[in-house]
Amino acid sequence: MSLLFEPATLTAPAGHGLTLRNRAMLAPMCQYSVTARDGLPHDWHLVHLGARAAGGFGLVFTEATAVVPEGRISDQDTGIWNDLQRQAWGPVVGFIHSQGAAAGIQLAHAGGKASTYPWLPAHAASGSRGTMPYDEGGWQTLGPSETDIFGLASPREMTVAEIEASVQAWAAAAARADAAGFDVVQIHAAHGYLIHQFLSPLTNHRTDAYGGSYANRTRYVREVVAAVRAVWPAHKPLAVRLSGDDWVEGGWRVSDTVLLARELRELGVTLFDLSSAGIGPFHGPTGPGFQVPLAAAVKSALAGTDSFVTAVGLITAPAQAEHVLVSGQADGVSIGRAALVQPNWAAVAAAELGVAGDLVPRAPQYWRAAW
Ligand SMILES: Cc1cc2nc3c(=O)[nH]c(=O)nc-3n(C[C@H](O)[C@H](O)[C@H](O)COP(=O)(O)O)c2cc1C
Repeated sequence: MSLLFEPATLTAPAGHGLTLRNRAMLAPMCQYSVTARDGLPHDWHLVHLGARAAGGFGLVFTEATAVVPEGRISDQDTGIWNDLQRQAWGPVVGFIHSQGAAAGIQLAHAGGKASTYPWLPAHAASGSRGTMPYDEGGWQTLGPSETDIFGLASPREMTVAEIEASVQAWAAAAARADAAGFDVVQIHAAHGYLIHQFLSPLTNHRTDAYGGSYANRTRYVREVVAAVRAVWPAHKPLAVRLSGDDWVEGGWRVSDTVLLARELRELGVTLFDLSSAGIGPFHGPTGPGFQVPLAAAVKSALAGTDSFVTAVGLITAPAQAEHVLVSGQADGVSIGRAALVQPNWAAVAAAELGVAGDLVPRAPQYWRAAW
């Protein structure tokens, strides 16, 4: 019996929770495909996410989906800041459900890392990297403080009124995500984007209630989580993705992450995905499963709290994923690049791990592929 393919129930404040057919999640991955620049998901998103739902994942996450237009990483990101976008996500969610997978949306605000060129071959070939200038459609970015640490145009420091308005934008986006039928909202608090910019002393130099001490730097994420939890239905699980470590002395460290995870659990987060870094050049470890110890640290800090902790980062082989779970380091795995190469990663993993019968997550249309 494979632990990876044992169904799992994510808890929620109302207690009903969400049962997943297995513990393999599709990691959120930007597609830079909204060529109309209106934040609307379209055929590509349906086919890309739909294929991975048909390919057996238990929970399929959308790419980083912006809660406000200025929060997009690039102008070709998806959004959920208006009702047209909410409507456009509906069929994507419907298809994911039709394949037996749960649908998660990653809500995001890129802060000072917004307004960059899409990460696509055409832009790379022409040398278009980093900040997109105004005359090509770029915009003034916002963050907790001005900084040049990203090698991008500096964000403008947010006023307290702007911080308060952005908290409400996260909540409004979550309410739309509920109306679109999503089962899980994941708040993107990792990778050097806005929330992480508040958390890290490397990018937060504020002297008001949102900067300085640990309690002040974590105020923004706590406000966002509380505002989202207040509108996100109590029977639906709430997730966060954290950068567990900046891997830099004087930055956000794993000791901060375990404290924060406990606080966010108190505020109603039950699903934690542990990534790392995103502020400045990468100084962390590399190699297979390089972020698994961060998931293990959080899982151990949350022991006995009915939380579900997932590991991500160079988890590519089914036996490796199974080992992460069996060794007790995480409750689930998020698969990124390996699932771009192989949309059926989960169905293939089930075959490799000897899973049989109804637990094989294969689309009915592909059932005759068994031999
Ligand atoms: C094309 C691409 C787009 C990504 N976009 C996002 C994103 O929108 N949100 C996010 O949190 N991480 C994003 N990531 C990071 C992945 O979710 C994942 O954490 C990372 O790729 C490491 O996992 P892997 O080794 O399984 O790919 C992206 C990664 C790739 C390759």
